[in-house]
Amino acid sequence: MRTLIQGGTVVTATDTHKADVLIDGEKVVAVGTDLKASGAKKIDASRKYVIPGGIDVHTHMELPFGGTMASDDFHTGTVAAAFGGTTSIVDFAVQGFGEPLEKARDAWLGKARGKAVIDYGLHMIVRDVSDKVIREMGTMVGEGVSSFKLFMAYPGVFMVDDASIFKALVRSAEVGGLICMHAENGGVIDVLVKKALAERKTEPKWHALTRPPEAEGEATGRAFKLAEMAGGVPLYIVHLSASQALEQVRQFRDRGLPAYAETCPQYLFLSYDNYEEPGFDGAKYVMSPPLRPKWHQDELWKGLARNDLQVVSTDHCPFCMKEGFAGLPKQKELGKGDFSKIPNGAPGVETRMVLLFDGGVVGGRITLNRWIELCSTSPAKIMGMFPRKGTIAAGSDADIVIWDPKATQTLSAKTHHMRVDYSPYEGRKVKGKATTVLSRGEVIVDDGRFLGKKGRGRFIKRGSPLLQT
Ligand code: URP
Ligand code: ZN
Ligand code: ZN
Repeated sequence: MRTLIQGGTVVTATDTHKADVLIDGEKVVAVGTDLKASGAKKIDASRKYVIPGGIDVHTHMELPFGGTMASDDFHTGTVAAAFGGTTSIVDFAVQGFGEPLEKARDAWLGKARGKAVIDYGLHMIVRDVSDKVIREMGTMVGEGVSSFKLFMAYPGVFMVDDASIFKALVRSAEVGGLICMHAENGGVIDVLVKKALAERKTEPKWHALTRPPEAEGEATGRAFKLAEMAGGVPLYIVHLSASQALEQVRQFRDRGLPAYAETCPQYLFLSYDNYEEPGFDGAKYVMSPPLRPKWHQDELWKGLARNDLQVVSTDHCPFCMKEGFAGLPKQKELGKGDFSKIPNGAPGVETRMVLLFDGGVVGGRITLNRWIELCSTSPAKIMGMFPRKGTIAAGSDADIVIWDPKATQTLSAKTHHMRVDYSPYEGRKVKGKATTVLSRGEVIVDDGRFLGKKGRGRFIKRGSPLLQT
């Protein structure tokens, strides 16, 4: 089937121009002015932007964490993503201790298969870096799981030591993979958490007060030094939140090293002040790294504009505030009376594109093209999906969003599609909306209705990172 998107303004990471887009089956076949296609289905995009679908390279659907499970699964989470204009995600499979990476990959493919409505890739969280696992990293890359997340935090759960990080970095370079790092000094944080609890400091805000920005800055610098010692290996820092960490990225990039990092909307729009909300409401924002004092936001925006930060992802990892929502068990409430037991994470997969458009483009902090670069093109390049994903060009997958820049919406848990009972942005009025969303040529969202079939999403076999950005 052919589809012609007519009369819109095509926006990519590099260009903004009036053009039609012709789709044949799952692929874009032409981008040009006054395209003719008899018999093709027509979509009118006049007065709208025609953009590559958003790519969120950091989500956690159904992540087991702290005795519960992230509340979105691959169905609810990807439907929500689609409504927000995101057409691909990369989620994280988690290796069990002593288990082969293949087992975790298959488990996560099992969670996604039959449920996902948009395409999805997988990273691999590596918890134990044995010689066997080091060998398996090569197999994983060959099979399209080309990035590996390591943790410098959560001792006893996820944290790996510097020797393991060093070995994994060396191996990632050998096999054309990429290490993604959760950079917080877990040892120091553990001491601070124990001290706070001993002093009966139990409210949600203590989550942030025991994870200081310096602990993120130190770990980020150490990670880059390890990558340098490993031979100047590329390294990608996930969910960067603090100016101290950004400073490390900047220094290593200024020295010509392949240092990369993403930040997330929560670090651009929310702050430490949210932990001071009444009662237990601060738990909504318990995530790691935590929200920082407001002044960090300006630094992160500067980092995005100057390309010291290359990607905006979400770290979508929702947990409900109240037991029973959608039949889910106790989640955030597990940490009532002990902040260290609050499951870490917050929702965001649906709101990333509009927050960055409204706060970034409309707010004058980034250009229209930079918005696309941060939310689609650079994620596709760095995570080995470009040019199949991340742009609108002949030969690319027809993952396309018709974006109405004039539409306004009010973000709210009452209207969002994520399976979670609160919105961190409740009541926030924003400009911009994904009105029509195509995934591989199929209209899956149109004018507020979901039209895609459950399970239509496909696994994205990713290649090696394309790291010129
Ligand atoms: O708080 C967070 N970020 N939860 C998800 C797990 C992770 O570290 O990304
Ligand atoms: Zn993390
Ligand atoms: Zn995460």
